[in-house]
Amino acid sequence: MTQVFINGARDELNVQEHDSLDPSVQELIRAAAEARKQAYCPYSNFAVGAALRTSDGSIYTGCNIENGAYAASICAERTAAVKAISEGKRDFVACAVVAQQDNGFTTPCGVCRQFLSEFVNGKDIPLYAAQPSNLPLRVLCTSVLQLLPNGFRFLNGK
Ligand code: THU
Repeated sequence: MTQVFINGARDELNVQEHDSLDPSVQELIRAAAEARKQAYCPYSNFAVGAALRTSDGSIYTGCNIENGAYAASICAERTAAVKAISEGKRDFVACAVVAQQDNGFTTPCGVCRQFLSEFVNGKDIPLYAAQPSNLPLRVLCTSVLQLLPNGFRFLNGK
């Protein structure tokens, strides 16, 4: 039976069995799940992990880090991105996001979509959204530009 998820993903379109994915993608999802364990989220109790692979094969991970002044919090995706970028790596080739919602996948918030889109450099990158445990593990396979169509960029050589 076709299962419809809260964020619009449907089984047969872009949700795949974890075990059918490329081993490098499975590794990226595992890295995001591992990073999720470091989440500091006492306010939402919603732990998120993210992992970004760069073109040299490295993986940079991040978790969400909340703050009592809520707006000062940072999402897992941007934590991973700022770690990579500040280490001189911004040629991203894939992203994984792991969080637990029983009835759907967790995809990046609008700010993170904008943030990541800055670094896809016109070529887009796949984004895999997974749950940490629900077995058999299934994965939403989308991309940064699918998640942010017609997003803002400076187009004047900036
Ligand atoms: N969050 C992330 O870290 N990534 C997402 O993709 C969705 C939301 C965090 C922000 C906040 O710490 C908590 O999850 C609840 O919104």
